[in-house]
Amino acid sequence: MKITAMTHLGLGRAEDGTLIPRTLPGEDVALRDDGSAQIVTPSVDRVAPPCRHFKTCGGCALQHASDAYVAGFKQGIVERALSAHGLTPPFRTLHTSPPQSRRRAKFAGRRTKKGAMVGFHARASDVLVAVPDCQLVTPALSAAIPMLEALTVLAASRRGEVGLTVTESLNGLDVLIGTDQPLTDQLRLDLAVFAQNSGLARLTWNDETLVTIQSPAQSFGPVKVTPPPGSFLQATADGEGALRDAVQEILQGADRIVDLFAGCGTFALALATQAEMLAVESEAEMLAALDRGWRSARGLKRVTTLTRDLFRRPLEPDEFKGFDAVVIDPPRAGAAAQVATIAASGINRVAMVSCNPVTFGRDVATLVAAGFVVDWVQVVDQFRWSPHAEVVAQLTRG
Ligand SMILES: C[S@@+](CC[C@H](N)C(=O)[O-])C[C@H]1O[C@@H](n2cnc3c(N)ncnc32)[C@H](O)[C@@H]1O
Repeated sequence: MKITAMTHLGLGRAEDGTLIPRTLPGEDVALRDDGSAQIVTPSVDRVAPPCRHFKTCGGCALQHASDAYVAGFKQGIVERALSAHGLTPPFRTLHTSPPQSRRRAKFAGRRTKKGAMVGFHARASDVLVAVPDCQLVTPALSAAIPMLEALTVLAASRRGEVGLTVTESLNGLDVLIGTDQPLTDQLRLDLAVFAQNSGLARLTWNDETLVTIQSPAQSFGPVKVTPPPGSFLQATADGEGALRDAVQEILQGADRIVDLFAGCGTFALALATQAEMLAVESEAEMLAALDRGWRSARGLKRVTTLTRDLFRRPLEPDEFKGFDAVVIDPPRAGAAAQVATIAASGINRVAMVSCNPVTFGRDVATLVAAGFVVDWVQVVDQFRWSPHAEVVAQLTRG
């Protein structure tokens, strides 16, 4: 059968509507008895997957496609999300993070007869796949897998699975164990000793930080910040840098800026080299981390924090008085309520960052209806080989 399209999840769609993973538009494929696809006529965009685990691992979806194809696919998703609202702005060249640059990954760990196994799940399956040569995560994360297996022996029950969220920090690995196992006093002690002996920066069990040996800090521009365990962090340092550069360029010359959905200050702290900042975010602990970072840095302008649920209580138009510009980076749900009040405010310059093209299109359209122009859009692909698209845009009016 012929593959005629690719869905937004990166699955090939055949003429009869059948969805077939790891195929590309234009390819002729035959389905084997086990449901896998045999490529009869390959697309010119087909490449040999760079990772030897691609066949079995569910971590990546698009390693069979050339970089140019994936770039066009991702930009196309964003273009369609905007054109659904009648918008056809110019696009800057897409930026893609290099292989082996994902600095945070959620591995799964299970005990085995011989010890333990840590890896990623196969696609749409609970089968665990070992990924010692993963091409997605940083070398430090790959090198940590044997340590994570030893940790799984300690932390997992005989049958259960643990989630291991591992983040590379400036001072070693920050590991968060997600499990429904009970934490006994003995286990707490054993895990603390394990963390010390393994040189971890911090070890957290669900919501409880067991031990912080060194602060698991990140650099946000000139400032070092220690995010709370498991809190949001841009997926790659490279992608974060590209987003930060774009946001700084858009907001150049602004003296007072509001950072909405500010997290731990990825943008606010970098922008504080040039402007006074108000950072607004619903997670008080993230803002406390941001504030500690700001206080420990030198030469920055004032950064004020405000803990607020911006879905329920968006900043009102009056609250933007005295500010020149806004950076907004909401979660996947977007920021419908918040962009409506920006539209009604005196703000004329917005840097919009988003991880969801659909809500991005909707929110951009609200601003355009209020007189904003989309000067440019750029896709920043920090989710290499996945179907996700991250985007940044400059909007101005007047
Ligand atoms: C995509 S992250 C961006 C964080 C930050 N701008 C960065 O780049 O690191 C979205 C942020 O929105 C926050 N958030 C989620 N829902 C929220 C809400 N209803 N009100 C305010 N902040 C919210 C999350 O805690 C998270 O920090």
